[in-house]
Amino acid sequence: MAGTSGTSTASEQAPRFRISPLSIEERDPRLAEFGCVDKSLTEFIASEEALRFEKFRLGRTYLLDHPDGRLIGYFTVSTDGLNLAKIKKQYGDGIPKGLNHIPSLLIGRLAIDREFAGKEPHYGRWAVKYIVGMAQEMAKTVGVRLIVLEAVPKSISFYEKCGFVAVDRVGKNTRNPTMFLDLLKL
Ligand SMILES: CC(C)(COP(=O)(O)OP(=O)(O)OC[C@H]1O[C@@H](n2cnc3c(N)ncnc32)[C@H](O)[C@@H]1OP(=O)(O)O)[C@@H](O)C(=O)NCCC(=O)NCCS
Repeated sequence: MAGTSGTSTASEQAPRFRISPLSIEERDPRLAEFGCVDKSLTEFIASEEALRFEKFRLGRTYLLDHPDGRLIGYFTVSTDGLNLAKIKKQYGDGIPKGLNHIPSLLIGRLAIDREFAGKEPHYGRWAVKYIVGMAQEMAKTVGVRLIVLEAVPKSISFYEKCGFVAVDRVGKNTRNPTMFLDLLKL
């Protein structure tokens, strides 16, 4: 799927953007210029850290490219497992005994550059739609039921709008709650 444009539905036309995998061979000069409101997410892509994740196969990073060449944002995904005990009450039906973790795709990082964040055409939401498409494609060959992430407090509402729910009730003092999207409920 890498290198194709965003997904679209009958009701919503995807904006024009390209998704391309982060290259470890060629240093992309745009990475050093990237800036989002979260310092650690900016540093991850601007430094060598994202490349280390690639090299050691800990996460694959994809860049969202604007048709005019600007870097819109990036996301990093890897496999994960959500502890079933955390969601058993609501989602335990049909899950065989003895399975402790539900196979998942983890959104380890997602960041949209300040220039594009919070504006039409809502690239953050399109990035999540693209990741959902990736997970559905993966599910044809590998067991994967959920998309999971740890949300920084400021992004909780964004992920709720994208259909994610928090594992536990989110209160004033909740730090980085685990949130998930059930692919079987789409
Ligand atoms: C969080 C982030 C990825 C969202 O991407 P975005 O392109 O700015 O968001 P979108 O424009 O696609 O927003 C989709 C919806 O979520 C809402 N939304 C976006 N960010 C929000 C926020 N921080 N709080 C509340 N709502 C938010 C938008 O208003 C929009 O709502 P609508 O459907 O009612 O119009 C982006 O702002 C970002 O990179 N933030 C800094 C890094 C970060 O927090 N990453 C997530 C942690 S991994």
